[in-house]
Amino acid sequence: MNKLSLPASSKMLSSDFTYGVATASFQIEGGIGTRLPCIWDTFCATPNKVADGSNGEIACDHFNLWKDDIELIDSLGVDAYRLSLSWPRVMHETGELNREGVNYYLNILNALKAKKIKAFVTLYHWDLPQHLEDAGGWLNRDTAYKFADYADKISQAIGDKVHSFATLNEPFCSAYLGYEIGVHAPGLVGKQYGRKAAHHLLLGHGLAMEKLNKNCPHSLNGIVLNFTPCYSATDKPEDISATQFADDYFNQWYIKPIFNKAYPDILNQLQKENQPNILDGDMDIISHPIDFLGINFYTRAIYKADEKEGFVQLDPPAPRTDIGWEIYPQAFSGLLTSLNEKYDLPPIYITENGAAMADKLVNGEVNDQDRVDYYQKHLTEVHNSIEAGVKVDGYFAWSLMDNFEWAEGYLKRFGIVHVDYDTQQRTIKASGHAYKQLISNR
Ligand code: FCB
Repeated sequence: MNKLSLPASSKMLSSDFTYGVATASFQIEGGIGTRLPCIWDTFCATPNKVADGSNGEIACDHFNLWKDDIELIDSLGVDAYRLSLSWPRVMHETGELNREGVNYYLNILNALKAKKIKAFVTLYHWDLPQHLEDAGGWLNRDTAYKFADYADKISQAIGDKVHSFATLNEPFCSAYLGYEIGVHAPGLVGKQYGRKAAHHLLLGHGLAMEKLNKNCPHSLNGIVLNFTPCYSATDKPEDISATQFADDYFNQWYIKPIFNKAYPDILNQLQKENQPNILDGDMDIISHPIDFLGINFYTRAIYKADEKEGFVQLDPPAPRTDIGWEIYPQAFSGLLTSLNEKYDLPPIYITENGAAMADKLVNGEVNDQDRVDYYQKHLTEVHNSIEAGVKVDGYFAWSLMDNFEWAEGYLKRFGIVHVDYDTQQRTIKASGHAYKQLISNR
């Protein structure tokens, strides 16, 4: 069945539950000639970093096609659109706003407003201006202050058109993938980098929150974190405690400082040179209250103890999506209820959830039954967590359309709309039609 459904009594069928689609600037825009270079331009130009050797020069050409894309978003009947701003497009190297770049987003925001589509704007979805990376990037504490300054200026310029601001998208990915294992830009490798970058990202978040709350007290201001729940391979105590360590290292590291003003205790088990540089007052800044928590969920991970590394992740079992991530929807409600127990949370928005599938465009149609199935199971888990008492106010499908999937280039398709990269033709997939129908049936 190519349909999505929820129990008739579900809170997710009430009109105050928000449904949306999500994208990110570098993944869709192109239009690189009119902005500063960013770390992903540099990373893409480095041999063997991106699977298909591609880059963000054209991507979905949303820089030119944004009007049509907003019509497309509107045709899906969604309440909201989550987009990110390209920092290197809206700020000059001098630290002044780039008016041309700001106008590009103002046009988009005005068009959304005219269609009564709420704009959920992320300020940082990984495209750090290259000149800031050249000055040390997120390893340099000053980048946090540069980010807050950007947040201050841009929120004054566009704030009245924005329903919700998120400071960062997935600081785990920026810090760990970018500065510790080097599979994302800027591609640094070293345990001495990851936690330092993470701390400066979180500091930047807290500093930016102060600016957002000052300039835009009426928008929903918060942060988007990703979680990959950690499961122990066995019941052996050593595997269980290795798994707990992994959870603290990958997941709790980013949420605990925000709500509990502290890093997980494993901080003290890290070698001195691998610890962040925490200055007096930092944890107060990081724990600035937020209006909402954005949660991105795709999969879980299974761990066991390892003598050398402490823990090691097992290969994900089947069923898996086309990117190799296990499909394990139960972990979604498990995650939401456990976070709800651990922390005093504001309303939650699921800011990303979706699947890469090996889609085929046949006679102008993509019959992605596998993706519909993924959405059905995951929406049901969100419903279950709401029934269990978790306050979830919205859900965004990742992604509106196929796009540049970071280190995988254009090889992995996450869209509910298919993109033909030769013609830039968009085709709504069966999952897109099903999502539209779920929304319109409310
Ligand atoms: C998330 C990213 C998003 C997209 C999905 C598949 O980690 O936030 O940009 O790449 O994964």
